[in-house]
Amino acid sequence: MTAPGESVPAAPGDSVPAERGEWSPADPAAVLAGVFDVRDRVVLVTGGASGLGLAMARVLAECGARVVIADRNADRLDEAAADLPSVERALVDVADPAAVDELVDGVVDRHGRLDVAFANAGIGAGRGPGDATGLVDTFDLELWRQVLDVNLNGVVHTVRAAARPMKRQRSGSIIVTASTAGLRQDPYVAYSYVVAKAGVVNLVHQAALDLARWQVRVNAIAPGPFRTNLGGGGSRRPEADARWAAAVPLGRMGDPAEIRGLALLLASDASSFMTGAVYPVDGGQLLQSPPLGPLP
Ligand SMILES: NC(=O)c1ccc[n+]([C@@H]2O[C@H](COP(=O)([O-])OP(=O)(O)OC[C@H]3O[C@@H](n4cnc5c(N)ncnc54)[C@H](O)[C@@H]3O)[C@@H](O)[C@H]2O)c1
Repeated sequence: MTAPGESVPAAPGDSVPAERGEWSPADPAAVLAGVFDVRDRVVLVTGGASGLGLAMARVLAECGARVVIADRNADRLDEAAADLPSVERALVDVADPAAVDELVDGVVDRHGRLDVAFANAGIGAGRGPGDATGLVDTFDLELWRQVLDVNLNGVVHTVRAAARPMKRQRSGSIIVTASTAGLRQDPYVAYSYVVAKAGVVNLVHQAALDLARWQVRVNAIAPGPFRTNLGGGGSRRPEADARWAAAVPLGRMGDPAEIRGLALLLASDASSFMTGAVYPVDGGQLLQSPPLGPLP
């Protein structure tokens, strides 16, 4: 027992008084490592060979997680694996539910569990109603089906497959990559994309409610415009970059590395009381709406 006024020995990670009235952390690195600890967590990232998924995989692997990147692009998987030698790779098309089940079963067979699943794979195709080919009565139905198959069905397949081992474990974190385009209208984004992303937002809400009974958490990240290979990397064209930058109060597109903080937060116990929410990482994009412009 310590008497009132007597000093209490500091435990590791505690804050200790440096001088009277001044506080400093005992060991900031240890506190951070404890709060965001993902060492040995088994993590699956779909669409993990490029862009945002690769940035998520990288930060988790660098923090000591056992990461599996799954992607349908074999060349990019090879490049990513050369870059991140500790990461396992799997060739998969998330639009195929049996292939996604097999992927998750394989991860669980090899590692004994699945702690974190990023349902991140996605594509962009076609234009929005700011273009004559992207109006509600002109958009291409074949592209619609392709985008829905990956961006909505692929996420459903991944969430379903990941939920099974996580329910058995009574723990887990599922993180869906949605989009600011799923939270409001955007004339520069195709109907297929805004509808699929809006769909995954409500999938996250419903699945979070459902899976909370097994202590499994489900959240979404909603990126604004990031410079990645989405849509074939077309966003790297200077005019597209300038348009996206103008739509963002911070005045620029995001760099994939800027997704790392939220990915680590949602994958670790730092978010242990967070479920069913959608977190924008968008440079403030949701604060303003781009004008629709003249009739195309
Ligand atoms: N870049 C942005 O501005 C932005 C904004 C909002 C949301 N997003 C979302 O972020 C996620 C990641 O996209 P990104 O921007 O990193 O693009 P990206 O093209 O760089 O990466 C996407 C990866 O997903 C893979 N993929 C595509 N279809 C697949 C399938 N059927 N099965 C398995 N893998 C598949 C691709 O091969 C690629 O490696 C997507 O869901 C995208 O919709 C991106």
